[in-house]
Amino acid sequence: MEIVSADVAIVGAGGAGLRAAIAIAQEDPSLKVALISKVYPMRSHTVAAEGGAAGVIRAEDSLENHFNDTVAGGDWLTDQDAVELFIEDAPRQLIQLEHWGCPWSRTPEGQPNTRPFGGMKIERTWFAADKSGFHILHTLFQTSIQFESIQRFDEFYATDLILDDGQCRGVVAIEMRTGQITLFKAKSVVIAAGGAGKIFPFTTNGAIKTGDGMAMAYRAGVPLKDMEFVQYHPTGLPGTGILLTEGCRGEGGILVNKDGYRYLQDYGLGPPDPWPRKKAMELGPRDRLSQAFWHEQQKGNTIPTAYGDTVLLDMRHLGEKKINERLPFVRDLASSYMGKDPVHEPVPVRPVVHYMMGGIHTNIDAATPVSGLFAAGECACVSINGANRLGSNSLTELLVFGRRAGLGAAEVARRSAAGNDAAVEAKGREAEARIVALTQREDKGESLATVRDAMSSTLEEGAGIYRTEASMKATCDVLAQLRQREPDICVKDKSKVFNTDLMGLLELQAMLQVAQTVAVSALARQESRGSHQRLDFEKRDDERYLKHTLAAYRGAEEPELSYLDVVITKSQPAERLYGGAADAAAAKKKGDDPGAGKAA
Ligand code: FUM
Repeated sequence: MEIVSADVAIVGAGGAGLRAAIAIAQEDPSLKVALISKVYPMRSHTVAAEGGAAGVIRAEDSLENHFNDTVAGGDWLTDQDAVELFIEDAPRQLIQLEHWGCPWSRTPEGQPNTRPFGGMKIERTWFAADKSGFHILHTLFQTSIQFESIQRFDEFYATDLILDDGQCRGVVAIEMRTGQITLFKAKSVVIAAGGAGKIFPFTTNGAIKTGDGMAMAYRAGVPLKDMEFVQYHPTGLPGTGILLTEGCRGEGGILVNKDGYRYLQDYGLGPPDPWPRKKAMELGPRDRLSQAFWHEQQKGNTIPTAYGDTVLLDMRHLGEKKINERLPFVRDLASSYMGKDPVHEPVPVRPVVHYMMGGIHTNIDAATPVSGLFAAGECACVSINGANRLGSNSLTELLVFGRRAGLGAAEVARRSAAGNDAAVEAKGREAEARIVALTQREDKGESLATVRDAMSSTLEEGAGIYRTEASMKATCDVLAQLRQREPDICVKDKSKVFNTDLMGLLELQAMLQVAQTVAVSALARQESRGSHQRLDFEKRDDERYLKHTLAAYRGAEEPELSYLDVVITKSQPAERLYGGAADAAAAKKKGDDPGAGKAA
């Protein structure tokens, strides 16, 4: 086993990990940072983000508006102290990126431009055409390489956290190029390893998003919070699952069913306005749009394809000039993968798993309950997204909380006494032995691919857009059986160099653990809220479930669930209203209040 010593180890070099590393390097250049990543940083999944990052900048907007949209968008499961902190720091972080060279798209006056986004009632999404994630990641990466204190370990697959005496003291990882197992000894650790969309069969997520970071923290004793909340993005390409950004609809694209009808007006999101759109319609929140698709499918209003039922995303009326300027990547993707040029033809789309609202339980400082362990980005649940994240809040989230995780980890590293080296190394060797044992398993004929496919299909069946007790129970049972079958999977490739067979098994172990938290948490939540919709419990139930779910690891057993109160500061739970219904409610409120509207 190789040993590397650092002050802070960061697992993941996407947006959150890079932002954490930069924060540490700026705060205290004497702290040595080991930045450990499964892939070369520019291949982290942040690169795939298209539409943009939210932050108040326009004169007609306010922090209060961003707060209200985020809390209502999350169906009041958001922790409001975290949201307040988030919306307040958001513009600062986006301007910081500007100063580091992020090429935001501009207004004619030269200011960063914004576009409308789903569930945001005023436009506040900063964008760089439709490659916002690429430009943000590139900006962070190019900034990070100027700091000598950040040492990169690219293509190292992290497997285990090392805890000693209740304190996180390091990480074990496999150098994929050589198979060398490496212990990173550190005084604090940040996990920024992304989400787990790959537990589902059809996702916008890259192949790397297998929940490794979530599973590592979970096994180390940190609960996974609100895992039942899984976001379906309404406009993925059938077949590949490739994202067509919400920016398509932000720029004016519309969704129609097989009859060319803008069906969203039938689901509380209308009426359909002429552009610029004042009502929600296609700019309603993602959970509502994906649920509307499901209803259209039940009614037989969708269009069957070899890759599932679809509706059409029509952008033809935007014109070639606007599509080329604002959505060049979308044009490229739709043309290359669907043979549909959006300038001339509508593009078939369908809902696709995009984001996990749940994740590693942290507080507003990105600290987990394990001393010295922090988490940020999609793998974490702080929670600003509640039961449904608004599009474009996540890129900003990884900046705000990536930075906070870095600062917290730096502070712990500065005040930590040296750990017990012998104990830490002994635990590193235990982790090494576990990995070696995987490579020595006897071949019992079980197939990794079969187990992985069974896991993802059962999740789609039991924990998809709409859920029932029976379907979720069946999924929980199948997952429990799959966890029993997993030890019979043998690593057939015995080589050390880029052993993808071994990586696949480690990823599968992580995915099965994460998948179980999703299904078990979902089964226990007997209400409908945000992305968790139950056909057998159709209403939100604040009395019983205005609470976060915490799923704690219990080895081979299913997770143990407990609940934690949601932090409410100033917005009491109310009905989520969009489009005309929201206007009517606002007008009624004004009418009820004799003083309202007179001051102007
Ligand atoms: O549609 C999109 O561009 C996705 C953005 C997001 O998930 O925040």
